[in-house]
Amino acid sequence: MRVFSGIRPTGDLHIGNYLGAIKQWIELQNENECVFCIVDLHALVTPWDPKTLQKNILETAVAYLGAGLDPEKCILFIQSQVKEHSELNWLLNNICPMGELLRMTQYKEKSKQYKNNINMGLLDYPVLMSADILLYQTNAVPVGEDQKQHVELTRTIAKKFNGKFGQTFVEPKAMIAKSGARIMSLQEPKKKMSKTGNPKGCIGLFDEPNDIKKKVMSAVTDTGKTIKYSPKTKPGISNLLTIYSLFSEIPIKELEKEFANKGYGAFKKALTELLILKLEPFRKKRKELLKREVYTAEILNQGAKKAQAIAASTMQKVKKKMGLPD
Ligand code: TYM
Repeated sequence: MRVFSGIRPTGDLHIGNYLGAIKQWIELQNENECVFCIVDLHALVTPWDPKTLQKNILETAVAYLGAGLDPEKCILFIQSQVKEHSELNWLLNNICPMGELLRMTQYKEKSKQYKNNINMGLLDYPVLMSADILLYQTNAVPVGEDQKQHVELTRTIAKKFNGKFGQTFVEPKAMIAKSGARIMSLQEPKKKMSKTGNPKGCIGLFDEPNDIKKKVMSAVTDTGKTIKYSPKTKPGISNLLTIYSLFSEIPIKELEKEFANKGYGAFKKALTELLILKLEPFRKKRKELLKREVYTAEILNQGAKKAQAIAASTMQKVKKKMGLPD
């Protein structure tokens, strides 16, 4: 099975990115042909600082490696280094109905959030994402819940293209984790954890123990005292239980029993200890990798070469089908 996914280099990765996406990637790389991308072109649709973009790209690469992606087992590369992504983006723009883009939830949310910067890229974002996926004849796209709609659109575009020009693209499917596909903010448990939300509600994959402690201990919980999973009535505690369960691999039901008479304070203390312990190897690996910039850059260069070979072969087919010269 060919697997493709990516993350925008817009700042430090958080445990939502890890539990919703990267954790699945690490398992998938053992048995599948995996291609993982740092989608820097997607980082340009919201305001960015050219001075820090390069650093963020490198940080994201270090995060991929630090979290456990193995360059011997998967292709790791930077989107803008494989020009076929932009090229296919333009071609697919002529296939994708505008109405589909206007109804995308992320477009609606981001155009509210960035009222003064509603650019073409923000609207076209899902078509570039479709190009990313379709270039690699991808079967499965492991992502968090918020990206499901974009993968569905990719299927629609692939179907339309295949219908019009003959079988060209594999129709991909989103692969959404049963649990962890939507980790919520620790401060606003009805909103998803995000790089642009309240920083206190977002636990970075490489946060220091003291920061983890402060964030978990000040997490918003719900009225009452019982530790029970009920996302509708107890969104705060349910989110913390999900995080606990995914990092400890203990089912939520068992955690409910274990903490039945212990209260929120003891539960948060145990979660703090668990997160500090589980994130420690990531922090350590990241520190080592930050000293080996040349090594990381070389992995990305090699990855771009391998990715480009696959992308070029798809582009050749696409251009021929559309009547464009080689
Ligand atoms: P991005 O950079 O916003 O997020 C990267 C991945 O992390 C997941 N995620 C979450 N999962 C669970 N809980 C959360 N709170 C949470 N926040 C983020 C996202 O669902 C995603 O899987 N458009 C994509 C990047 C992209 C892409 C692609 C993905 C570009 N091209 C092609 C797959 C295939 C994005 O902005 O992800």
